[in-house]
Amino acid sequence: MPTPLTPPLAGRRALVVGGSTGVGRGIADAWAQAGADVLVLSRSAPAGPGAEALRWAPLDLTDRTAAQRQLTAATADDLHLACFSAVHYGDRRALFGDASEDEWRRQVDVNLHGLWLTLAASLPALRRTAGTGLFLGVSSEVVFNAGPGRSGYAATKAAGAALLNSVAQEQDADDVRIVQVLPAGMVDSPGIRRRRPGDFDYSSYMQPAQFGAVATELALTSGAGQHGESLVVDGSGEWRPVGEATPVSQSRRTAS
Ligand SMILES: NC(=O)c1ccc[n+]([C@@H]2O[C@H](COP(=O)([O-])OP(=O)(O)OC[C@H]3O[C@@H](n4cnc5c(N)ncnc54)[C@H](OP(=O)(O)O)[C@@H]3O)[C@@H](O)[C@H]2O)c1
Repeated sequence: MPTPLTPPLAGRRALVVGGSTGVGRGIADAWAQAGADVLVLSRSAPAGPGAEALRWAPLDLTDRTAAQRQLTAATADDLHLACFSAVHYGDRRALFGDASEDEWRRQVDVNLHGLWLTLAASLPALRRTAGTGLFLGVSSEVVFNAGPGRSGYAATKAAGAALLNSVAQEQDADDVRIVQVLPAGMVDSPGIRRRRPGDFDYSSYMQPAQFGAVATELALTSGAGQHGESLVVDGSGEWRPVGEATPVSQSRRTAS
């Protein structure tokens, strides 16, 4: 009788913050399909196809004290893989003078301080593991293309990318490698759908599952050769360093 093949990520423990939907969900599903034990942290539990393969615990990054406690609990065991994909876009695009301070604070709490808390909790767990750990940050073209109508999103994503780039330079790449991935265009996700009219045509948008190949490859290699890099993922699921393929701006002056 043939021996069943062992999945390539069997025995690896993974954490995906913001893995209930969108790009983070695409990464969580890919790692789970490859055999990793994946814990998702988010406000709502993953639903739909593949959700049964994911573990979940609640996390609301707008409650800083509770979030720190929940992240500490989630990283008590050694980790091989960690991903941060949580985001608060805001309900609509708005020029600076029309955006509320409350919205700004939520963007800072989720997009930036959430990343800080996740790094602080997960780096020690990634360093403890035998072999090399991988921290995967989900970035955005807005980091490279500041634009009107989304100053809070742009500022928090750019600061998050700078945080990861700086920590990557402090980090021994034999212990933990830090890599960022970003889409070449828009991705169909619940956060984006909340900001679009009901009859919007998403046929040109990427799908979260298109991040599966890069996430699995980076997990299998622990990010070898990519430490400190930002990789642009395109609609066919292929990827290139951002220096070779900076995505075009998705900023528009009109609210959408
Ligand atoms: N979609 C795009 O076109 C696009 C383009 C460029 C970059 N990106 C990047 O891709 C990443 C994911 O974006 P997406 O559009 O795929 O997002 P999404 O589907 O809206 O998912 C965002 C994730 O963040 C979680 N989240 C939101 N608020 C939270 C909170 N207060 N506490 C904890 N978790 C929270 C959500 O879970 P719950 O709602 O269950 O809490 C969900 O798991 C982001 O980093 C974004 O900047 C996306």
